[in-house]
Amino acid sequence: MDEAEILERLLILIQKYHAGQMTDGFLDYHEPSALKNLLNLDEHEGDSDWDNLFAWVEKYLAFSAKTNHPGFVNRMWAGANLPSIIGEIVVALSNTSSCTYESAPVATLMEKYMLRKMLELVGFSNGEGQMTTGSSNANMIAMMVARNLTGQKVKESGLFSHQELFAFVSADAHYSMDKAANIIGIGTDHLVKVPVNSRGEMDTTELENRIKQTIDSGGIPFFVGATAGTTVRGAYDPLDPLLELQGRYNFWLHVDGAWGGAVVLSDRLRPKFLHGIEMVDSFTWDFHKMPGTALICNVLLLNKMPTTLGSVCGAGDSSYIFRDGQDAEVHDLGTISLQCGKRVDSLKWFLDWKYYGQTGFAKRIESYLELCQYAEECILQRAELEMVVPRESFNVCFRFKTPPDIPVNDFNLALRTRLYQQGMSLVGFGYIDSKLALRLLITNSSIGKPEIDDFFRKLVATGNELLET
Ligand SMILES: Cc1ncc(COP(=O)(O)O)c(C=O)c1O
Repeated sequence: MDEAEILERLLILIQKYHAGQMTDGFLDYHEPSALKNLLNLDEHEGDSDWDNLFAWVEKYLAFSAKTNHPGFVNRMWAGANLPSIIGEIVVALSNTSSCTYESAPVATLMEKYMLRKMLELVGFSNGEGQMTTGSSNANMIAMMVARNLTGQKVKESGLFSHQELFAFVSADAHYSMDKAANIIGIGTDHLVKVPVNSRGEMDTTELENRIKQTIDSGGIPFFVGATAGTTVRGAYDPLDPLLELQGRYNFWLHVDGAWGGAVVLSDRLRPKFLHGIEMVDSFTWDFHKMPGTALICNVLLLNKMPTTLGSVCGAGDSSYIFRDGQDAEVHDLGTISLQCGKRVDSLKWFLDWKYYGQTGFAKRIESYLELCQYAEECILQRAELEMVVPRESFNVCFRFKTPPDIPVNDFNLALRTRLYQQGMSLVGFGYIDSKLALRLLITNSSIGKPEIDDFFRKLVATGNELLET
């Protein structure tokens, strides 16, 4: 087989898989040990046989979850946008690292172009940004920037003799904040979890109390991480009161919008959910979540930096690789990044942006919100189901009701597992005040009202079946 035939065969496979993604179940499920046997991972090592290679690809596709399928409502992402898939294929084809202009001239300019667009969109008039490997890392970098600004010598001397630093997030913040506290050296005990109110938003009165206690006991409150769209409930921490507190206590105010930050794309939704966002210190969100760009596509933006990302993230002798320094503008994106090799995530982002534009993305996000409202109405209308908490935004947290003698959490977990193992749907879950909530997320542009109806029909039928067993 020559290379042209190989690529042709690949394209046929891609086309067939893409066309079939919505059909049948979303997954041909097997227990791990059975799947191991089916895959036969030890076969054919080093045989340089293209037929065998394509057999691996076919196996991979046959047993993978079809994330474009309307049954895939589990995660904050689903099947990727086609323009971004094209971007990913081209990136693999032209394999390079976007850490230097020399090795990635176009990717460098595209990333800088997109970052500039996002800074303008958010309203960070004198800001700086970077694409990172996801919001977890973006949260960590934001915390690190805040740490280095608070302790001007921390980068060189570490935290050994430093006054204790404390970061604050809501009790419902993402676990990546705990990881960040671990990585940047303050320790997870110095990440204060502020209680949430009945709507799942950070209680800002409690935040102020804890900041005061920290100062009274000799600590420095250096960082507050607000969440725009909490992972389980979809609550938005209120930015205006947080900005007021920031004025009083001078901490770095970061917004983790990994999930719900995408509302910044909609002029209609932004004032409701992100009022004041242009005044915060840093903001991250994932284009690979609601907007649908292929994984991974994240942006971290910093507002009016009193220092540069280069001075915070850069370290060591990198003179063998970077050519920056001739003028003020950063050309080598590696100089402001924590990575050396840096994946080209910009092309897929750029292509999506060119294809849909802000208007297209805004329409999509607005329509997801309408569909979530519809899903909530469906739940309220069905006698078998109930909302665990009222919907705050995009997360629909509900459960199947059970008679008093059946433990409701265990039942709902079993229901979720059955739906998954039968390849019908994969729906997420989380705990709200120790109640297990099935968490329906709509981030799949192939889902409309008929698919939502179908999802609930299957869920209720399976729940009723389970009740009878
Ligand atoms: C609120 C929030 N922050 C951060 C993250 C982590 O994002 P990523 O997967 O891009 O690291 C998530 C992921 O679910 C999230 O919901």
